[in-house]
Amino acid sequence: MVTNKEKLQKLIRDKLKGYQVIVASNREPYLHYMREGKIGYLRPAGGASNTLDSILKACGGTWIAYGSGPADRKVVDEEGKVRLPPEDPRYTLKRIWLNKEEADGYYYGFSNQALWPLCHIVYTRPIFRHSDWQYYQKVNRMFAEAVLKEVGKGKAFVWIQDYHLALLAKYIKEQRKDIVCTQFWHIPWPNPEAFRICPMKKEILEGLLANDMLAFHVRYYGENFISTVEKEIEARIDKEKTSIFSRGHETMIRAFAISVDFQKISQEIDSEATQERARRFKEEFSLSEGVKIILGLDRVDYTKGIPERLRAINRFLEKYPEYKERFVFIQMGALSRVHIQQYRDLNDEINELVEQINWRHSTESWSPIIFVRRTLSFAETLAFYRLGDVCIVSSLHDGMNIVAKEYLSAKNNLDGALLLSRFTGAARELTDAVLINPYHIEDFADKIKLALSMPKEERVERMKRLRQVIAENDIYKWAGKFVNETAKTLKSLRRG
Ligand code: F6P
Repeated sequence: MVTNKEKLQKLIRDKLKGYQVIVASNREPYLHYMREGKIGYLRPAGGASNTLDSILKACGGTWIAYGSGPADRKVVDEEGKVRLPPEDPRYTLKRIWLNKEEADGYYYGFSNQALWPLCHIVYTRPIFRHSDWQYYQKVNRMFAEAVLKEVGKGKAFVWIQDYHLALLAKYIKEQRKDIVCTQFWHIPWPNPEAFRICPMKKEILEGLLANDMLAFHVRYYGENFISTVEKEIEARIDKEKTSIFSRGHETMIRAFAISVDFQKISQEIDSEATQERARRFKEEFSLSEGVKIILGLDRVDYTKGIPERLRAINRFLEKYPEYKERFVFIQMGALSRVHIQQYRDLNDEINELVEQINWRHSTESWSPIIFVRRTLSFAETLAFYRLGDVCIVSSLHDGMNIVAKEYLSAKNNLDGALLLSRFTGAARELTDAVLINPYHIEDFADKIKLALSMPKEERVERMKRLRQVIAENDIYKWAGKFVNETAKTLKSLRRG
């Protein structure tokens, strides 16, 4: 069983021997920027990104991604390549350059105004612009060309990450059927009724079915996918194997719940550096001793249920005014996709709500909500979790939600409570969390009270059980399952 980084690395070396490993994702693992004349880099937060980085560090290979960092062009060679990680190079990042129209059409347009709202049921209407679709196809082809060039004549295994690249496997297989393609669809897959409105549904399904394996976080999304295929295209479903035959090709459908590096978080949370950062946060936000801290940590995205969370805090204070000055809700919101109108509207709505709620409930020395628009580094995120007596994850719909799992991993003193939306993939595993329906503000407010007033023994008991779930299903186990299933696919391809 894969239980740590070393075991995962060994598994990859054993199982994928002889295969060049290629990762393809929209987001790159390292972004370069320039500050005071010097080049620096930052790592976008995210479980998948860190794990794929570990995989490539173990076996070498190439990561192909959109080069979106402001100084990305300054560090690459003439082919757009840079060796990573910068301090100990083990693999190559090949950057794909997109001009403004391509980025607008492929990323802001089709990926994030069509597919994102289509797959998340949050009542935000998807927009299917023909020109966005054309750019989406074009950029997927650019990725395919980069993969094929990289592979040359050799054997390769390509790990395609997420919804930005739904056509990539198809474009690769058109040229080279023998290249093994697996895709992890990181967001929910909706029910067939929701998906059927998509004008490009056939092309998207055919694109995804060019993969040898297609994986989702939870079985339910896989079942939705299979039902969608049954309704929309000609295909044969093998229920025994959970696979789909279409156009002479078989695709395994699998579910692997992404997780976090439980051990690493559990250890680093107590480090001197984390404690120091937590102290600094307390100072910066004037968080007094004895005042309970409720946390929120999200990209500012309309799927995350941030306005619902603020309304629930408001309702909580209306119903239970005795809690005034006894807690503070601090929300870190990383700005995201702000070229898209709905994201700008959401930011305005949040500003207004924070202002109104604080105005309404503040006392001379206290305001209930602190809203900070900031992207935290991983180290800062840990310090932030350290402070949280309660963490709220109130997504309206979420493929998994990593914050919930990170927060629990960070609470090795067993003192904390998680309010978790039933509409996250994580809620299927984390049944001992205080589960909420973020649309039900009345109940949400009561659950905040429950979390704040829960007896210590109950908090500890729940926390123990929740942490056990993550300890047993951490990020290495996730990647191990993915690699093992890929290896089975390689075997059956060899036989075929
Ligand atoms: O989970 C969906 C996802 O789009 C990931 O692919 C991505 O890493 C994350 O959300 C952040 O989104 P973006 O890359 O658009 O900033």
